[in-house]
Amino acid sequence: MQRKFSLFQSHLDLAHAYWTTLLRDGGWAIDSTCGGGRDTLKLARILSGREESGVIGIDIQKDAIERTEALLDGEGSARAQVHLFHQSHEEFPPLAYERPVRLIVYNLGYLPGGDKENTTLTPTTLASIERALELVQPGGALSITCYPGHKEGAREAQAVQELAAGLSPAEWNVCLHTHLNRSASPQLLLLQKNSI
Ligand SMILES: C[S@@+](CC[C@H](N)C(=O)[O-])C[C@H]1O[C@@H](n2cnc3c(N)ncnc32)[C@H](O)[C@@H]1O
Repeated sequence: MQRKFSLFQSHLDLAHAYWTTLLRDGGWAIDSTCGGGRDTLKLARILSGREESGVIGIDIQKDAIERTEALLDGEGSARAQVHLFHQSHEEFPPLAYERPVRLIVYNLGYLPGGDKENTTLTPTTLASIERALELVQPGGALSITCYPGHKEGAREAQAVQELAAGLSPAEWNVCLHTHLNRSASPQLLLLQKNSI
């Protein structure tokens, strides 16, 4: 399909460009909200064939894990590098602490086409991000997409922004991308931990 804008069409295009740059030398990535699996698939393709690299995918909904598995089927070696966990991202699985994690992704909100009640919630999202800030390696980053267009999403976006804005600039490079000329536009936050 012909794109309307050549640079990027959505916040996800921008996020994917960041992920590709950040993971160009390989490493481990966590998709904290697998959902329909598109982001997990993107990460798996970026890291496909790279040594000592892989993707940890997490979702609280069994349906989302199954959808992600179905999307990854046929990806060959890329599929072998993906480890899926049906659980809340409030805690990361032990594997995450045994690997050098370079990128942790959150695509917040609810699964498109799914039950809107199964949305990410501010307290668990904040608890997970606090752990992710500890877990990610120096030089690595958190990529967080917030959707303020629904009630819990607006609350969550504000809370995530407040947390991010309070991070020490000596330790974190914090950036917010949004479309200023679109109402309730999705927000992409990129939090990069400084290298030592
Ligand atoms: C916007 S969707 C993610 C979209 C997905 N990244 C994709 O590429 O299709 C948000 C997902 O977060 C999941 N979720 C909600 N609360 C969660 C939690 N506490 N832990 C893990 N996943 C959660 C939902 O089940 C939903 O699938």
